[in-house]
Amino acid sequence: MQINPKTVKKQFEKNISKYNRNALVQKELAQKLAAALIQYRTQFDRVLEAGCGTGFLTEELSRKISFNKYFANDIVSKSKNYLNKILSDYMFITGNIDKIKTGSKVDLIISNAMFQWLNDLEKSFDNFYNMLEKDGILAFTTFAPDNFKEIRELCGLSLDYKSMEELRQVLEKKYEILYTEQYTKILTFNSPLEILAHMKNTGVNSLASNWTFKDVKEFCGKYLQKYPDLTLTYTPIIVIAHKY
Ligand SMILES: C[S@@+](CC[C@H](N)C(=O)[O-])C[C@H]1O[C@@H](n2cnc3c(N)ncnc32)[C@H](O)[C@@H]1O
Repeated sequence: MQINPKTVKKQFEKNISKYNRNALVQKELAQKLAAALIQYRTQFDRVLEAGCGTGFLTEELSRKISFNKYFANDIVSKSKNYLNKILSDYMFITGNIDKIKTGSKVDLIISNAMFQWLNDLEKSFDNFYNMLEKDGILAFTTFAPDNFKEIRELCGLSLDYKSMEELRQVLEKKYEILYTEQYTKILTFNSPLEILAHMKNTGVNSLASNWTFKDVKEFCGKYLQKYPDLTLTYTPIIVIAHKY
């Protein structure tokens, strides 16, 4: 599925006020990513956080690592309002992470639950490589191919999630991989409509944005038939790599 950054921007912008109450998996992932990172390093000079959203990861990092300069990026400019409550001295850079410039190299590029929205991850990894100092760290979380497998199986809609093996193959060309983790988290809901709302409130509403009432009704019927327990599967991946 080809991703249009303008659509991604619109869907996150529209639902940003509901994100914190709904993005429980992303919040847990931010905690896990920060905890994994500090096993390797806690002091940085310049940090770039890609797709910072409402600042789940920013908050974790502000308590766990030290840095001189923090660049926080998101394609949604409203995200700055949330970051202002977490950091006092930092620079917000609005825009697509594939296009932005920090002006100087950084020694940590970090991102939580965002890389699955990038169209050409290999190209983005190359950009990050050029933005990183030697010995810099690239730390991120994303999701493996079985993420939202229920939605894919029912509607054939899915982002182009990369497997750990695919990520490893691309990264190993330029980075030393320090840490990887993958796990499965299954959420349960009270109705298929609640599942649709959950996805919408966490920014993933392009799937059903143009659905008619009939489409929604059909989706709900099929969901109840195939997944009567009303599960939704998340398959998070955590990676920490080192530019040598
Ligand atoms: C699932 S949210 C994760 C937010 C945050 N990192 C967290 O831990 O909760 C994905 C975020 O990435 C942003 N985003 C998506 N595509 C982007 C891109 N190409 N460049 C910069 N930000 C992007 C979205 O606006 C959204 O805030």
